[in-house]
Amino acid sequence: MNTRQEQVMATVSPRLVGPDFILEARGLSKAFLGFVAVDEVDFKVRRGSIHALIGPNGAGKSTFFNLLTKFLKPTSGSIHFEGEDVTHESPARLARNGLVRSFQISATFPHLTLLQNVRIALQHRLGATFAFWKPARTLRRLDPRAMELLDAVGLASLAHATAAQLPYGRKRALELATTLALEPKLLLLDEPTQGMGHEDVGMVTELIQRVAADRTVLMVEHNMAVVSRIADTISVLQRGQIIAEGSYDEVSRNPAVIEAYMGKRCDNLGSQHG
Ligand SMILES: Nc1ncnc2c1ncn2[C@@H]1O[C@H](COP(=O)(O)OP(=O)(O)OP(=O)(O)O)[C@@H](O)[C@H]1O
Ligand SMILES: [Mg+2]
Repeated sequence: MNTRQEQVMATVSPRLVGPDFILEARGLSKAFLGFVAVDEVDFKVRRGSIHALIGPNGAGKSTFFNLLTKFLKPTSGSIHFEGEDVTHESPARLARNGLVRSFQISATFPHLTLLQNVRIALQHRLGATFAFWKPARTLRRLDPRAMELLDAVGLASLAHATAAQLPYGRKRALELATTLALEPKLLLLDEPTQGMGHEDVGMVTELIQRVAADRTVLMVEHNMAVVSRIADTISVLQRGQIIAEGSYDEVSRNPAVIEAYMGKRCDNLGSQHG
C-alpha cells in the first residue's frame, strides 16, 4: 500500500470499508462471432487505489470495461463486486450499490443550469423519477449538496450558467459532479481525458485525483502522462490478455509491454493515440 492509500485509509470513509479488493474478474471472456476480444482475464482492483487499464489499439480495453460495467454480457467467467458475484446483475442495480460508470446517466442536459443538472442526478440517487413537477422548495433542499458537488469539481462559481455554455473540459467536470451525486464506491472512467487539450487534461487529471481521495477509481486511459502521474496500479492488456501489471515504473520497463507497443519507448506510449 502506498502513502496516498494509507492516508486515505486513515480517514475511513464509508466508501472505503470492506474487503481489500473491491472488484474482481475471474476467467472473464468475451467472444464476438468466434473472435476472442477478452480472453480468460483474471483481474483485481484494490480498494482505495487508482487503477489504470492501458494497451495498444484493439487490445480489448473497451470490451473489458464494458463487461465490468455490465454493458456487455460475458461469454464466460464471473465478476465480483464487494465480494459478491454480480455477473448477472443489471448496471442500474450495480450503480445503486456503488459501482458507477461515469456518463452512465446519459451525461448532462445542455439547456439546464449546472445546479439543475446536479440536482437531477441527486434526485436519481434518491430513487425519485425526474420530478420536475415537485414544488420548488422540495427540490431546493438538494441545493446545498448540489453546490458541494459543484465545488468539488471547481464549478461552484458557474452554478447558474447553462451546461451548453461550458467549454469541453468543464463539461467533463460537470459530468463528474453528476456521477459523484450517485455516491460511487468504485468510479469507472472510460478515457476521461480523450479529445482534450493540454490544459484540460491537467485539470481533469487533478480532479480525478481529488475525487479518488475517498473512493476507488478504475479508468481506461491512453494518455501516459496522466497514467504515470496518478495511477497506483496499471494493467496492460494485449490481444485480450493482461500481459503486465504493477506501478508505472514496473510496467514501463517490462519487455513484453515495450514489445506490445511495437518497440516504442514507453514514455511515448501515449503518442499512439495522437
Ligand atoms: N461488437 C463487436 N463485434 C465484433 N468485434 C468487436 C466488437 N467490439 C470489439 N470488437 C473487436 O474486439 C477487439 C477489441 O476491441 P476493443 O474496442 O475492446 O479494443 P480497445 O482496446 O478498446 O481499442 P482502442 O484502443 O482502439 O479503443 C477489436 O479487434 C475489435 O475489432
Ligand atoms: Mg477502446
